[in-house]
Amino acid sequence: MAKKSLPRIFGVLGYPAKHSLSPKMHNAAFKALKINARYRIFEVEPSKLKNFFATLRARGIEGLNVTIPYKQTVLSYIKRTTPEARMIGAVNTIKVSGGKLLGYNTHGEGFLKHLKADLAFDPRGKKIAVLGAGGASRAVCVYLCKAGARRIAIYNRDRSKTINLMHVLNMNGICTDLIAASSVSDLRIEDADLLVNATSVGMKEGASSLVESRHLHPGLIVYDLVYSRKRTALLEDAAAKGCRTANGLGMLLYQGMLSFKIWTGRTPPKKAMEKALGL
Ligand code: ATR
Repeated sequence: MAKKSLPRIFGVLGYPAKHSLSPKMHNAAFKALKINARYRIFEVEPSKLKNFFATLRARGIEGLNVTIPYKQTVLSYIKRTTPEARMIGAVNTIKVSGGKLLGYNTHGEGFLKHLKADLAFDPRGKKIAVLGAGGASRAVCVYLCKAGARRIAIYNRDRSKTINLMHVLNMNGICTDLIAASSVSDLRIEDADLLVNATSVGMKEGASSLVESRHLHPGLIVYDLVYSRKRTALLEDAAAKGCRTANGLGMLLYQGMLSFKIWTGRTPPKKAMEKALGL
């Protein structure tokens, strides 16, 4: 009888990582393409991270997604990273190639692809307001700049992070009009085309929105990167004002599709992955 080959191993590294939707999405993709592979959860506590990377190759792990709190930390274990991942300062996808670790960030590109493909929104020449200046915001802003946005206004509670992000965007000379807003009112949402919530506000049930409803208008697309809840308070307010809305599941799907392509070289099966996410 022919020996059954062992499945290829992929997974998500984080702490905690149990609630990740990625295993569902990627295992559905492997099944759809009949790839003998498993996507696992690697919940690794910080004191064991070094050992995890030391034994990664021996365990035959071919690729990883990286989530909280390791998106920045893993940079020190990686041989080569893409210019975008370096600009963002974080890696969410690792490919093991010829024994070496290669780092990518598929968040920003996933966000952009979702905007263009599913929401028919091209950022070129558009005015954009962004809440937050953490990892997710950096990924989104780098790609909005690359896509030719005319204006990007960013507001973050901790202003030093906004200034830091402005430096990154300026240094690379890829965006024309950058505003480090000192309040939500400064974001100029009233004449913006797109508002992105890249803060974690809205993840918890009952959390209120950072944006007062009076700023919202029907010509605005409101994109909340939060995906743990289908409709955050911000999205509720936006829908009531006649805005088009999107939650973070679209970005999750597209960043996952990009990671899948990096690991396997295969065109990701979008329908199967969408279905796994309940889209
Ligand atoms: P991620 O990788 O998901 O972006 P992060 O880098 O920790 O996670 O960023 C979280 C973002 O949510 C930050 O912009 C953070 O603001 P601060 O930098 O000021 O902490 C923002 N955030 C979290 N809780 C918030 C709150 N209660 N009000 C406003 N912003 C908040």
